[in-house]
Amino acid sequence: MTVSASPSVEALPHWEETPEDLPAAIREIKSAIRASIESSGRSVEQVAQALEERIAERVRVIEAAKAAGESIWPEIDFDDIARGTVTEAQRDLVKTRGCLVVRGHFDREQALEWDRSILDYVEGNHFFEDYRGSGDDFFASVGSRPEIYPIYWSHAQMQARQSDRMAAVQSFMNNLWTSTSMDVEWFDPERDSLYPDRIRRRPEGADSAGLGTHIDTGTLDLWMTKAYQRAFRHVYDGSIEEYDPWDATFRTEGPQYPGTTMCSAFRTFQGWTALSDMDFDQGVLHAIPIPETMAYLLLRPMLDDTDDDDMCGVMVNKVFPINEKWHELPMQALSGIPSVRAGDSVWWHCDLVHGVAPVFDQQGWGNVMYIPAAPWCPRNREYAPIAFEAFATGSSPSDFPAEHYERQWPDRFSVEELNDRGRRGFGIAD
Ligand SMILES: [Fe+2]
Repeated sequence: MTVSASPSVEALPHWEETPEDLPAAIREIKSAIRASIESSGRSVEQVAQALEERIAERVRVIEAAKAAGESIWPEIDFDDIARGTVTEAQRDLVKTRGCLVVRGHFDREQALEWDRSILDYVEGNHFFEDYRGSGDDFFASVGSRPEIYPIYWSHAQMQARQSDRMAAVQSFMNNLWTSTSMDVEWFDPERDSLYPDRIRRRPEGADSAGLGTHIDTGTLDLWMTKAYQRAFRHVYDGSIEEYDPWDATFRTEGPQYPGTTMCSAFRTFQGWTALSDMDFDQGVLHAIPIPETMAYLLLRPMLDDTDDDDMCGVMVNKVFPINEKWHELPMQALSGIPSVRAGDSVWWHCDLVHGVAPVFDQQGWGNVMYIPAAPWCPRNREYAPIAFEAFATGSSPSDFPAEHYERQWPDRFSVEELNDRGRRGFGIAD
């Protein structure tokens, strides 16, 4: 790689593995980033204020839309994506908000059939009798029956992952990004890597405390690894006006610090496909529909009301928390998805702050398959053989707890059932 970021970013100290002395490393990187920003001729406070004004304007627009009773999450019909009839205005709104509901992504009957087939698959293989409890601490706040099923290789999931309809939406989402710059193609928007993830089935009558607002992108590595320093170069060198959440430059390579919620893949969007109808007030997904919030999260600990060895509570091995104490301005824009029907899909930019609202005595089921857009790129090419090995042996993928429920299940999706798109996604065909 011959391309590089600005000189002050290239000169930042960096740690490609989790530093041993975290407080010392935090002190060192904070002071180096502050100096780098100030080399632009503006103070850290001035740069942060310029960004705050940009975000405050977005917050005002969202609050006005809410007051007018408008849905904040953009909605597009699958048929418009498939036919290429999405308007410029619709596309612009998805880029402004960083999120989208695709209506009718799959036929509703198809989605309900998938839901039933997943239940048959887990029940037929005695999953509930064998269930050993949550394998990670992130989703552990539920009872003995899981909500998040560590199931990866059902026919329903694999059929959706390698379907033409999924590929059409992934291509649309990927093409919202700038994938080529500096003579480098950072990812291929037309090829997905079939990143395997789990399913959620939340039954009627469930009580759930929800999930606090967070991001999935990383933790301290966002400030400390070379690849992330370069990816967020406009945050770290004071040229904040040039920061573009849709610029893939430097984003698709480099390590992440290990942790229970770490994701080896680069995802343009996280997403799920609804397998049941869900009303907007039944403990659904919420997000801060302002992609630029990421820059705010990265700049916030550089202000001098924080301790020198504190990144607003961000640690390794713990999900990156977003809260009123440090992030009061963007938190005002937190917005839930509209009601969805089985077969709709929901997408949010990989940097978007999100969480799940609590629910008591839930009406109806809350069932989804997590299927993101994870386009072909150096990071995902590296993970593909690991994902394929897990698929071929029915194992849990290495990004997830080593639970391996499906290894002995005879009716999981087989290698022979992969189509061309599935084979390319796993990197076993070109
Ligand atoms: Fe998340």
